[in-house]
Amino acid sequence: CLFFGWKPEGEGTLLQDLTRQSLDIIPVMLVALDARGRITLINKRGCEILGYAEKELIGKDWFETCLPAAVRRQVRGVFDKIMRGEVEAVKYFDNPIVTKTGEERMVSWHNTVLRDDKGKPTGTLSSGLDITERKAAEERLRESEARVRAILETAVDGIITIDEHGIIESFNPAAERMFGYKAEEIVGKSVTLLMPFPYNQEHDGYIREYIETGERKVIGIGREIEAKRKDGTVFPVRLALSEVHVGEHRHFTGIIRDISEEISLRSKTIQAERLAIIGKMAAKVAHEIRNPLSSISLNAELLGEELDGYQCANTREARVLLESMIHEIDRVTALTDEYLQFSRLPHSRPVRGRLQDLLQEVSASVAAQLQHKGVKLTVETSDDLPEVAFDRAQLKRVLLNLIRNAHEAMPKGGELRIATAQSDHAVHVRISDTGVGIPEEDKERIFDPFFTTKDFGTGLGLAVSQQVINEHGGQIHCESEVGKGTTFDIALPLNLKRPGAQK
Ligand SMILES: Nc1ncnc2c1ncn2[C@@H]1O[C@H](COP(=O)(O)OP(=O)(O)OP(=O)(O)O)[C@@H](O)[C@H]1O
Ligand SMILES: [Mg+2]
Repeated sequence: CLFFGWKPEGEGTLLQDLTRQSLDIIPVMLVALDARGRITLINKRGCEILGYAEKELIGKDWFETCLPAAVRRQVRGVFDKIMRGEVEAVKYFDNPIVTKTGEERMVSWHNTVLRDDKGKPTGTLSSGLDITERKAAEERLRESEARVRAILETAVDGIITIDEHGIIESFNPAAERMFGYKAEEIVGKSVTLLMPFPYNQEHDGYIREYIETGERKVIGIGREIEAKRKDGTVFPVRLALSEVHVGEHRHFTGIIRDISEEISLRSKTIQAERLAIIGKMAAKVAHEIRNPLSSISLNAELLGEELDGYQCANTREARVLLESMIHEIDRVTALTDEYLQFSRLPHSRPVRGRLQDLLQEVSASVAAQLQHKGVKLTVETSDDLPEVAFDRAQLKRVLLNLIRNAHEAMPKGGELRIATAQSDHAVHVRISDTGVGIPEEDKERIFDPFFTTKDFGTGLGLAVSQQVINEHGGQIHCESEVGKGTTFDIALPLNLKRPGAQK
């Protein structure tokens, strides 16, 4: 071997000088040990790392001088076995060393066993790469990765990263819950899978346009858009997109929040505010109309009495006109009463009780009238329905509204069914009719105040009903098919989380 037996004091020949210089310019540490583990050679880099001068090391026991106490015995044991020819040397391994100042450094070793002519081990030659910084950097990276992973995994918002082509690169657990896809089935696919029409058509355009022009439509700006679940259902989300550069490539991170609840709350608030304003207006108008109306009504009656005084035959025509006037006045009076009642709708005060009893009471009160009009009424309630909190008077009003609507939708008679059901969190009342049904284009508007398709309707029935049910923390939904009939479903929560609720 070229290096073995090289002695620093034997300098002088060109070959030796060249050898020495080449040893000193290589960027790894080189250490040769004799069979007893004493240092016979160490290059410049080795001295630098260990912090000793060459003279301080040559001839010293490597294990005692340069290894931390914790590994010294074990490494020495292996070395001795190699020297006795009992085991082969391990070609690569990572081992710590200790410097002159006592600092430990991690070194990645590459070893060969030196042998004499007969093949007997005479020592080792090892090159070592100081990997302390690399190890520490790896450790830091591992830690930061673990931290990032923990954030991604525990975040309540969906976090999705995509590349420049819109291909999904990561999908956190919240996104899995929100969209119904497992990360492994969606990673590698196009992000357009998560968008409903027409966003899915526009998306590629957005990213391309941004890359080409730098113009921001979505990047850096939170937007409310619609997203699509695996099962095809569409839900509203708030999306905040940010851009990350890694090397030459851009990646986009989307933070997504499901805002279904927020939006329904928002629309409920808007509806309630609208109703409140309408209520005030209605009260004002009704109030202003009421007084003149009652004097008109009074005068009309007086006029009737006046007519009685005239005994001539041609008062008949005048009497018919007067009666028609009185009829119209009565109708407007009834309307103003209804408006006033609406505007004075008190807050509901729910009290826990048996809903089935209220249903029986309400249906008993309308049964005769319905039967008379050719409407068959069936009531199916379960006796062991759990108790829920409701404001008796107000819920009664809601039920009567719905029954009247159903009745009005069946001018030629039909069937009206009132049934109860129970789900995980609510008790349901369903009121179904076999009436005319509600056209698709009206469905969105039936709960709007003053929306009516009836000649003499106020259009307040459902608006008020919805308001009452919302105040109960419940929901009212409608399903309808033109020509077949309509079902209104009221859900009242089993646990009312409102301070107004009383046990
Ligand atoms: N069961 C039903 N079948 C068919 N259409 C219905 C039914 N219930 C409600 N609608 C439709 O919804 C509209 C609004 O109903 P809502 O009860 O709010 O007002 P209205 O019944 O028209 O007026 P009011 O309640 O003052 O008599 C009705 O005009 C009708 O077009
Ligand atoms: Mg009505």
